[in-house]
Amino acid sequence: MKALIIYYSLNGNTDWAAHYLAERIPADLFRLEPDWEPPKSGFFKFMKGGQAAIRGKKVTLKAIPDPSAYDAILLAGPVWAKTCPPALNTYLSEHEGDLAGKNLLFVSSSSGGDGRGFFRRIMTLLPSCPIATTVSLRNPLQRQEESARQLDGLIQVLNPSND
Ligand SMILES: Cc1cc2nc3c(=O)[nH]c(=O)nc-3n(C[C@H](O)[C@H](O)[C@H](O)COP(=O)(O)O)c2cc1C
Repeated sequence: MKALIIYYSLNGNTDWAAHYLAERIPADLFRLEPDWEPPKSGFFKFMKGGQAAIRGKKVTLKAIPDPSAYDAILLAGPVWAKTCPPALNTYLSEHEGDLAGKNLLFVSSSSGGDGRGFFRRIMTLLPSCPIATTVSLRNPLQRQEESARQLDGLIQVLNPSND
């Protein structure tokens, strides 16, 4: 089983989770690099980022991985305004066909809320791809022990023989 981890992170939480997974499963790691992001801190981070997420803003991604050589694809990103950030929104709306027939697993990273709206949005972007596994992390950089336990559960789903 070879997995591809595709993720976006503005402030490092999803980045931590993606690296945690990549260190424990045979996987290639690919970070989506959009040509637009809100500021990394301050009021405008939430205002501009939130508006962009709600409006389904499209961004240009610097490079796109080819998932054809992989059995499983893990997609991870932060929850923005209860939905997907533009980098993931753009990737999923433009590459649904690449993901058809793959074992898809999704990880969200949020703060006060959870990943329900994020996963709902993904389901609407990928109508032909059943989503079997989702993991909703909360502030993983601050709560590494609990987040690691959740991610270990995801690894078990991928490699059920690994005890
Ligand atoms: C624009 C914006 C909107 C956000 N909206 C939400 C939200 O609706 N619910 C929530 O729980 N966290 C929200 N957050 C917090 C992030 O989801 C959370 O801090 C996440 O762990 C950040 O991941 P990252 O460090 O990989 O970017 C928002 C953050 C940003 C920048």
